[in-house]
This record gives sequence, C-alpha cells and structure tokens, in this order.
Amino acid sequence: MPDSKKRYYITTPIYYVNGEPHVGTATTTVLADATTRYRRLRGDNPYFLTGTDENARKVTEAAQKAGQDPQTFVDAVSLRFVETWKFLKCDYDVFFRTTEERHRQVVQAVFERLRASGDIYTGTYEGWYSVTDETFFRDSDVDAATGRVIETGAAVERVSEDTYFFRLSAYGERLKAHILANPDFLQPDTRRNEVLAFIDQGLRDLNITQNRSGWGIEVPGEPNRIIYVWFDALINYLTESGWPDSPDWRTLWPADVHLMGKEIFTRFHATLWPAMLIALGLPLPQHVVAHGWWLIGGEKGAKSKGNIPAPQDVVAMLQERSGAPQEICVDALRYYLLRDIQFSSDAEFSPDILLARYNADLANDLGNVLNRVLGANFFPGTIPTPRADRNITAKLRETAETSVRDYEAALERFDWGAALAAAWRIVGGVNDFLQETAPWKLAKAGDTEAVGDVLYGALEATRIAALLVAPAMPSAAAEMGRQLGVADIAAEGGWAEATRWGGLAPGTPAGASSPIFPRIDTRTANQAAPKKEMQKTVNPTNPTFSPIAPTESATSQASDTITIDDFARVQLRIADILTAERIQGAKKLLRLQIRVGDGDERQLVAGIAESYAPEDLPGKKIVVVANLQPATIRGVQSQGMLLAATDEAGRAILLAPDTPVAAGSKVK
Ligand code: MSP
Repeated sequence: MPDSKKRYYITTPIYYVNGEPHVGTATTTVLADATTRYRRLRGDNPYFLTGTDENARKVTEAAQKAGQDPQTFVDAVSLRFVETWKFLKCDYDVFFRTTEERHRQVVQAVFERLRASGDIYTGTYEGWYSVTDETFFRDSDVDAATGRVIETGAAVERVSEDTYFFRLSAYGERLKAHILANPDFLQPDTRRNEVLAFIDQGLRDLNITQNRSGWGIEVPGEPNRIIYVWFDALINYLTESGWPDSPDWRTLWPADVHLMGKEIFTRFHATLWPAMLIALGLPLPQHVVAHGWWLIGGEKGAKSKGNIPAPQDVVAMLQERSGAPQEICVDALRYYLLRDIQFSSDAEFSPDILLARYNADLANDLGNVLNRVLGANFFPGTIPTPRADRNITAKLRETAETSVRDYEAALERFDWGAALAAAWRIVGGVNDFLQETAPWKLAKAGDTEAVGDVLYGALEATRIAALLVAPAMPSAAAEMGRQLGVADIAAEGGWAEATRWGGLAPGTPAGASSPIFPRIDTRTANQAAPKKEMQKTVNPTNPTFSPIAPTESATSQASDTITIDDFARVQLRIADILTAERIQGAKKLLRLQIRVGDGDERQLVAGIAESYAPEDLPGKKIVVVANLQPATIRGVQSQGMLLAATDEAGRAILLAPDTPVAAGSKVK
C-alpha cells in the first residue's frame, strides 16, 4: 500500500464457500460497494475488503458431498464469488481467502499472543456444536425433544473435549463501556440494545479449538487441534492491514465499517471480535452495522435451503423482460437490493416488488426525466444559458440542496434506502418543476430565454440526482452523464463541488437521448414467466435449488398500516378525460381515453357506466393511479385506475381537483 494516510476501510463478511453466492450475500457486497464508491466521490481513499471463509467444517462436508478434495472445491466456489461480484460491478480492493498462508501466520500469532497474556487457557468443553451454524451452544439453547438449536433450527452434535478457551468473560464490562460511550459504534439501535442485553446476561469464555487434524488452521505446534473457524475468520479484517509486521498497518486499521447480516452480529462481530481486539490492545472498528434478512415467502432466504436466487438469474430475467443491456439490469438489481433491504427488520425479496420498483422508480421517474427534456422538440441541443436574475429554479435548487444533505446524513448511517429516497426527491422535483413551468408552452409562445432557464434548471437538478445515484447504479449514472454531456459524472474526490448548484456548463452539447430503462410489461408477471426465468442454470454445489415464484408483496403481508415510503410508491396523477364510450356487453364499464401529462395518453376501463353518461365525461379532470399494473378487463386493456367515492345509493362519484390543474400533476 503506497498511501501513508488512513484509508476508509469497509468490509463485508467473508462468505462460507459451502454454497454459491445469492441475492442475500450480494446485498451486503453491494452495500459495501456502493459505500466504497460514495467514499471515493468524497475523496476518502476507501479500501473495500470482501472474500471467502474457507476453513469451516461445513465447507469440508460440502466438498465431500461434491466428491472433491477440499482445496479443489474451495478454489472453485471461491471463484464463483469473484465472478459474481465482478458481474454485479462490485469493485473490491481485495478478495480475501482464509486459506492464504499470510492469514494462517497472523491467526497463529494472535493465538500465541493471547496465550502468552493468559487470555487463552486450557480447559474441558462439554456442550453442543452445530456445523450448520458453526457455533457452540449450551444446553439451554437446544430443544431437547428435537435435538435442534431453538433459535436457528440447526442440528447439533454433543462435544466433550480438552480444549483452549478464550477469556471472553473478562471483557464484558470494558466492551459495554465502549458501546455506551460510542453510540454509533453498533448500528442499528435495536441491535445495539440486543448486544447490551447479551453482555448483561454475562459473557462466557469461548471454546476456540477443536480436536481434529487436517483442514483448518492448526494451533501452533499442535497438529491435532484446529482453531475454531470464527476465531480464525474474524481475524481476516486485521490480517489484511498487514498487522503486526507491516509498518503501514495503521493505514487500514481500525476498520471504518464492518457490514453484515444480523445473524452474525451479536455473538460474533459485536462481542467476540471487539473483545479479541481489546485483549490484543488494538483499536476497535468505528462502526459495526447489521442489516436484516431477505425473506422468501416469509422465511429466511438461505443457500442451505436453496430458496434464494442467484443474482445472475434475476438479472437475466430483467434483461429478458426489459430488453435493456446487462449492465443496466445489474444496476436495477443493485437499486432494489439497496433501496429495500431493511436495517431494523426483515424484508420480503419478491420479483413482483422488483418489477414494480423497476417500472415506477427507474423506467418512469429516473430513466425518463432526461428524455422529457433532451427529447423535447424545443431542446436546443446544447445546455442552455440560464439568466442570472431569474429565480424560477429557486425551489428546485432548494430541493436539490436539501436532498444532498439528507443523502449525506443517511449514508452516515449506511442507510441506502433513505439515501436513495432523498435522490428520488430531486427526480420528483424535476418532474413537478416541468409540470409547473410548462416549457412547451413557453416554447410555443416563443420565449426562448425562459425556456432556457427552465431547461437549465431541470438538467442541472438531474445532473445532481445522477451523481447521487452513481454509487448505487454506476452504469445508469454514466449513461445519464453521457446524455447530459458530462464527461465524468462521478469524478473521484469532487463531492463538495459536484453537489453544488451550477455545475453544468452552458453551451456543452448534450448526448443523444433515449430512455435508459425501457418499461417492462408486467401483465404476464403472475404467469409462468418468472418461474422459468429465475431458474438456475448451473449449480454444482446446490443441485436442489428451486426457482422462486413471485410471492405476495411485502407490503401486503405486513400489518394494516403502511409507511410513507409504501404510499410514495402509488403514483396518483391528475388526468384529463379525452373520450368515453360504453363497452359492449358490459353494462357497468366504460372505456376511457385519458391524458396523464404530456405525451402520456392511455386507455382505462372504469366501472362507472351506471353513474355517468359517456357523453358527459370528456373534458373532466380526474385522479388516477398511474403506476398500476396494466390489466385486461373484458378484453379491453386498462392502464391505470381512476379514483371514485361511492355514495349511499352505491353511485360512483368521481374525485376531481377543486381548481383546474394540469394533467400529470402529482397528487400526494
Ligand atoms: N463466514 C461467515 C462470516 C464470517 S465474517 C468474519 C458467514 N458466512 S455466510 O456465507 O453464511 O454469509 C452470511 C452473510 O451473508 C450475512 O451476514 C449476510 O451478509 C449475507 N446473507 C446471507 N443470507 C442472507 C439473507 N437471506 N438476507 C440478507 N443477507 C443475507 O456467516
């Protein structure tokens, strides 16, 4: 490492190689990659570690099952992780493997030091071990009737052996003091409280060796004892820094953030690991952050269950459905993972929600916003020069500035869902701005200078949105940059300047514009298609993989209340009714042609024929759900739904704005 300055060090867990990468493991890796890219924009010289945890017993068992020797097996599966992260544009600095010799040396050095300091001592372990969880359990953790771990359902085996213990019990108080003094050390708060309660129960010394030989890191000088895989694995973060021999190890250590799923937080990353570091006299990581799980049909998605798809299969499905290039579909998956993974709870992974996000957030909002401006016949081809004395863009500019601040604040908490929601407020702001300023009318009236003011504002806000989106969706942001005529939309270290209003240079030629995310027709989404499309093609380590079928959306499975984010997914718009006619043979239905804003004319079927005569409807303004999945009703396609109340007599009463407002205006 040539740098002498501390780097912003980000890690994912190192993944077990008993099975292939999937959208769960991909989520943490994409979270780390997006965070790395963001830190690079800020000039923090980030360093991103991911890798594989290869010394586990479950890995040797998987190798045996596959009929391969462990080394051949781990090499092959590890490579699948490398390929998958490259496919997902996860641009790590190191892919760490615990079978590397340098790691063995550091793990043994840690063992020697802690044995010398009395933190590691000999004793007898009597209890349970689960190979699935690679965890020691006490009697009270195991259901005697089923012989399974109560918390995880994993099978256990009885262990009774002479072993080495790590004196974890000695560190509870110091650890607690550190957690209390550093409120953002453990995140989110719900998990932090869980850790405090876990410490208060009393930490118990941990068995850290197993009596066997062969695969794994040996206790120094004792070939018949293998160091417990978690004691070995956690040290990877430190090994990478070059500790203890490299003079540069402080360039990386302490880590700035360890990211992971919640199941390896409390017991391992939030207690055992910091206790090991305190025992070694080393500084603790700045942040240890856990996210919730993706559930599949309400259950944890896991490779052992074979119920969770590979990212490549999800991307292939998106490609087939949208016709968009692979890197754009990769970005769409990255967006969904970042936007919808939860920190304090779990979330349902569902192709339906992914497709809805794709159409609403990407095709409709983000991908289209540029096209609305650059594709307009009054766009002059180059970035217009705004007049300095006009403040038509003041509100939009304020939206952009507050959104940047909200985005930054969210990312201090690693909360990509909130950060992306902030970026989308800019996109929404641009759409509102265009609606309010109606540049097409200004163009018609021949007011070229006013058109220039509006177009500059819309494009500049879009540039800032593209910058915020860049760490999450690097390819889409680069394409937005190209269309805007900006050479490097996400230039390293340029954050402060790039987020300032006014970065677009007037006079620059814009690139050719085309929608980045073609809309997906979701009408067949509930039929057989996703089943076939999500099917895994090759999976040597997991032959029982079954494709996931679309499930009910997470929101419909949750409680009766919805979050503001849920509501924000419903796009309510003002529409003008253009024509209305009866549908033959359907006495309640009318076929309406409506306009939902500029260039967006569609047909919808409404059950209002008994309440309204078709001839009375043209010219009326109504409210419609604009992003409803299209449906075919009595053989007629309906793209959306209008809103109506029902009176006591059961008659439909159309909802309408109380003052005329332009078609396409948002209702919220
Ligand atoms: N090898 C250990 C980690 C050692 S770190 C020093 C391990 N490996 S794992 O392969 O089981 O990966 C667990 C991680 O995968 C989780 O912490 C999380 O990052 C990710 N996920 C696995 N399943 C997941 C979901 N269903 N949902 C979200 N993330 C998931 O534990």
